[in-house]
Amino acid sequence: MARETWATRLGFILAAVGSAVGLGNIWRFPWQTAENGGSAFLVVYLGIVLLVGVPGLLGEFVIGRRANKSPVGALRELSGQRSWGFIGMFSVITGISLLSFYSVVGGWIIRYLLESGVSLVGSDPAYFTNPGQYFGGVSAGADAALYHLLFLGLTALIVFAGIRKGIELGTKIMMPAVLVLLGGLAAWAATQPNAAAGYAFFLRFDPSVISENFFAILGPAAGQALFTLSLGAGTMITYASYLGEDRSLPFDGSAIAVLNTSVGVITGLVVFPLLFSQGINPTETGTGPGALFVGLAGAFSQLPAGTLIATAFFAVVTLAALSSSISMLEIPVAFLVDEYDVSRKRAVAGMAGLVAVTGTVCAFEPSIFGFVAGTLVNILLTAGLAAFLLFVGWVMGRDAIEELASGAGALGRSLSTPWLFAVGIVLPLFLVFTLLTHFGVDGS
Ligand code: PHE
Ligand code: NA
Repeated sequence: MARETWATRLGFILAAVGSAVGLGNIWRFPWQTAENGGSAFLVVYLGIVLLVGVPGLLGEFVIGRRANKSPVGALRELSGQRSWGFIGMFSVITGISLLSFYSVVGGWIIRYLLESGVSLVGSDPAYFTNPGQYFGGVSAGADAALYHLLFLGLTALIVFAGIRKGIELGTKIMMPAVLVLLGGLAAWAATQPNAAAGYAFFLRFDPSVISENFFAILGPAAGQALFTLSLGAGTMITYASYLGEDRSLPFDGSAIAVLNTSVGVITGLVVFPLLFSQGINPTETGTGPGALFVGLAGAFSQLPAGTLIATAFFAVVTLAALSSSISMLEIPVAFLVDEYDVSRKRAVAGMAGLVAVTGTVCAFEPSIFGFVAGTLVNILLTAGLAAFLLFVGWVMGRDAIEELASGAGALGRSLSTPWLFAVGIVLPLFLVFTLLTHFGVDGS
């Protein structure tokens, strides 16, 4: 059977933006920013998105589009060596690891969505106003496992339907909805009392924070930049493998990075004014996976139209999370389909079955959840991207330049040689360096 391709130009961009925009922007970005010095973090993170994220994204695109295969087959075929295929196998492990914890968080969100929709905000303030205790109930145990299975089931349904009818169609509906709802929420948040204090908190810029804490900010900022752009897992290799030669990769890559970053910033413009308007200081609600939900749920519970706003907000988060989780599941699914000629349906059933189990373990064991969502994912993504980029620089070489130039305008072509140098030498060094700061500084 012929391999599927994206039906439209926009389809690929929306699918890739859908993968990028997710819990990374909405859940991780605001509290990482709050925790690491406000806009000082934002500036370092933006720098890394621009200097590492965009060229790195192009590296994954070039591999995928050149080979028209998912990572394992792509690395093996382009190099002619089985050992590179073995390195590609890590992407399968990364995809499964990512989805195992992501699906649990997706489950929390669905629960928040469903429960805010039936006006729990009003009827049971304890659910939200005493969330410290309640969040424990939401976040771990049998309920968390059930909602994880629900979220995973939705993810599997979309991937089941294939590239065009599943992922492309799904993201074509989900991404505009996310942008419209989020824009609406940001406009509404601006009308709230004390919103200015929220903006000030989010966007306060103190250059001394950068100069004094540069190395402490660097690791988290790099990890956040990779996570948010879905880099290092092979998702972007896989998505680009369904792409034709006529697209300009530099254009698409930049568009994806700009859209993704905008969503992160707009989310901050929703979250922080909302928290401050309700007298909730994000630095006092504590940190950790639950912080955002606890703070926001507290704010929603105090608002006159809290149910409505909470429903809109958690709908945004659900759609954004789903359009990312499908890109995680697609990695191992494409691997089975490409390498073993398994039907898509069986591949989805098998892989979703596996993640049903691994995710349930994460749902019951907060310590395992924390390890997978934090340390393991950071290391896998950073090492994964370093390996992909070394591959582009040293194995593909001139082929990579040719592939990047195909469909790109004159500007894209003229940038391809410096790009190859960055991708082959500078970025892997940088990534290995940030990997080391994880082992040294972030001993979590
Ligand atoms: N970028 C996604 C998010 O921000 C997470 C993701 C990482 C998706 C790696 C695919 C691969 O939520
Ligand atoms: Na993102």
